[in-house]
Amino acid sequence: MGVSDNVPHLLRAARGEILDRPPVWMMRQAGRYMKAYRDLREKYPSFRDRSEIPEVAIEVSLQPWKAFQPDGVILFSDIVTPLPGLGIEMDIAEGKGPIIHAPIRTQEQVDNLRPLNPDESVPFIRTIISALRSEVGNKSTVLGFVGAPWTLAAYAVEGKGSKTYSVIKNMAFSDPTTLHQLLGKLTEAIATYVRYQIDCGAQVVQMFDSWAGQLCPQDYDTFALPYQKRVFELVKQTHPDTPLILLVSGSAGVLERMGESGADIVTVDWTVDMASARQRLGKHMKVQGNLDPGVLFGSKEFIHSRILDTVRKAGNWGHILNLGHGVLPSTPEENVAFFFETAKQLSPTTVS
Ligand code: CP3
Repeated sequence: MGVSDNVPHLLRAARGEILDRPPVWMMRQAGRYMKAYRDLREKYPSFRDRSEIPEVAIEVSLQPWKAFQPDGVILFSDIVTPLPGLGIEMDIAEGKGPIIHAPIRTQEQVDNLRPLNPDESVPFIRTIISALRSEVGNKSTVLGFVGAPWTLAAYAVEGKGSKTYSVIKNMAFSDPTTLHQLLGKLTEAIATYVRYQIDCGAQVVQMFDSWAGQLCPQDYDTFALPYQKRVFELVKQTHPDTPLILLVSGSAGVLERMGESGADIVTVDWTVDMASARQRLGKHMKVQGNLDPGVLFGSKEFIHSRILDTVRKAGNWGHILNLGHGVLPSTPEENVAFFFETAKQLSPTTVS
């Protein structure tokens, strides 16, 4: 038995080992498509309760682990969870997502934000992550996650999700100084939060810059990339060995830029063919992805063939098999089960 037998599969891929099959997990693998989750939601109707009462968040995080044994178990939480700790009050509304009670629109509001003290404002994170680690042992990898500065700023400034991002773009192009100060403060808080998650036991951390794909490349270089870089740089200063993943949704136009962020692994969405993503990112960049979540509505043969296609294009090094974004709420659970079974049965002969 080699030393690496004690290291879970996803972590080995993230560290750059050549493996017999890629590790597999799914973004949003805990949540609404699972009956067990919907049942628990009846008992705990508030999202903040489900994600901040440790026993409940632990149970939700482990529902997909118990059902499918994915190679990654992600903490059940939300990207806006740390915001109240900075002084930005929020709620997560059923079917709508985050709601910020007093959106950040002025310099004075930015000046009043507090630095994040995780032990004071998000102490439940320690209980949740350490329970996940002891539950999965070395059979799976525990992932933490955070929102990136631009995406959290988008929620803080807009006050909710948006289709056009008019309010934050108005600020970006008419009052950039205020926005840069907000982004700077969020950057510090997010780096603190990533470090905290790692100290609590997260083995890999994914940063979601979900709404950075709404920026044209030139504005991505001004408002998203420098702050992604700074978070990764700050985390690497203290925690150089923890692999960091970056996701941008709708990333086809900024894929090469994602590779410059300092992330160890770039998530590729389905708007880019995996073979071309490999070329565009270069042979040293690890990738994650990239099936269209909608593929899980197809037949088993169809799902099987799309998994093979992605895995063949990605090759046997530095690939974490995943969807290109979160699993959709109406996805049949048995297709999710089939996705995991198929992925875990792949071998070098079926792939080549
Ligand atoms: O992957 C996992 O299993 C962890 C769960 C997770 C949630 N939010 C739980 C959740 C993760 C990784 C997130 C991150 C998150 N939250 C992102 C980045 C990922 C992405 O999709 O790009 C974003 C943009 C948010 C903000 C947010 N929170 C949205 C857009 C929504 C959904 C609104 C809706 O109802 O469609 C939420 C609420 C939320 N967070 C839900 C879940 C499971 C759904 C609400 C519920 O289950 O009651």
